[in-house]
Amino acid sequence: MPQPYILAIDTSCDETAVAVVQGHQVISNVVASQVELHKPYGGVFPTVAKQAHRENIAPATAAALRRAHLTSADIAAVAVTQGPGLAPALEVGIEFAQKIAAEWQVPLLGINHLEGHVLSVLATPKPRPSSKSTSARPHELPPALPTPEKPVLAVMVSGRHTEFIAIPTIGTYHKLGGSVDDAAGEALDKVGRMLDFGYPAGPVIEEFARRGNPTAYPFPLPMTTSGDYNLSFSGLKTYARNKIETLSGEHRLTKTEVFDFSASFQRAVFRSICYKLNKILQHQQFNEVWLGGGVAANAELRHQLRLTLKPFNLKLRVPYTKKLCGDNAAMIGVVASYQLNQFLSGGGGLSAPLDRKPRWELESLSSGT
Ligand code: KG4
Ligand code: ZN
Repeated sequence: MPQPYILAIDTSCDETAVAVVQGHQVISNVVASQVELHKPYGGVFPTVAKQAHRENIAPATAAALRRAHLTSADIAAVAVTQGPGLAPALEVGIEFAQKIAAEWQVPLLGINHLEGHVLSVLATPKPRPSSKSTSARPHELPPALPTPEKPVLAVMVSGRHTEFIAIPTIGTYHKLGGSVDDAAGEALDKVGRMLDFGYPAGPVIEEFARRGNPTAYPFPLPMTTSGDYNLSFSGLKTYARNKIETLSGEHRLTKTEVFDFSASFQRAVFRSICYKLNKILQHQQFNEVWLGGGVAANAELRHQLRLTLKPFNLKLRVPYTKKLCGDNAAMIGVVASYQLNQFLSGGGGLSAPLDRKPRWELESLSSGT
């Protein structure tokens, strides 16, 4: 029997995202970006985000249904990001989701945004009408799902989180370590801001880094003696600020210096992630490694992670399109497809109102809080 259609919504930060999924298959994936609105602030401005979500959410929902060639009558459930994220932004998505779920008389599921990023590798494209294969790309095996004997390790690298998460089964998440201060994407954005790269700076740094020498500036490797799997990027940020001040005190930075600096800083951030990943893999065994979050779009990060995994004979699984790395609602739909089966087998029915959970930890899902 085909899986039911789920309409999913994510308004956790600065993208108004609405998607339709059928199980793992992404039928439509609409992302109305607010990046241009936030550029003048050099980051996401919550009240501006809230207003833009209000304006975009109904048209984005209509577009997601239209692109899926469906109507509301085809939708079996609505899923919405309940947290973590910016409280005013989350509120818009939750209120809208509650309204349409009540109108359409379907269940409403509250989803954790981080679980969405973590499971984004499981999303598969909609099969083309002519193709007989239903999911994975040619020559690509479907992901090996975690089992308690062979867990999966998720590496989550976004603008708000940088975490290593062990997954013994889908729905159970154990954080092994993570950044104790800025997230990796946040550090890239902050250093990019010092260099006037605009917001978000991660993709600009990636582009400039391709043309620079990654060993030109010898950034330190932080947290080597911490004895845990945690990361810290604030020292790298301070080192970057001091270096930029020294250089720009002497002269206006040359193009070569900007490219070399971008390559060196990017290398420092990724080296730190790979260093701790290596430590984890020396002590624990995993089936596969899954990469998710906005920074997962970075080709150099993927390359460095693959090099780190090679001696352990492990595969790095990445989302099938870069659109699934940044914030999107298809990943929320994929998580919901797991929860809907459970929900329906538990008796189903319509759902109680949802609260925003701006600081919702992924680990708390395992304990049901
Ligand atoms: O997952 P995401 O869209 O939002 C959060 O939930 O945080 O991640 C956004 C982050 C930003 O910090 C952005 O600079 C970074 O992802 N990012 C990148 C790239 N594309 C986006 N960082 C490095 N290289 C990229 N290509
Ligand atoms: Zn995100």
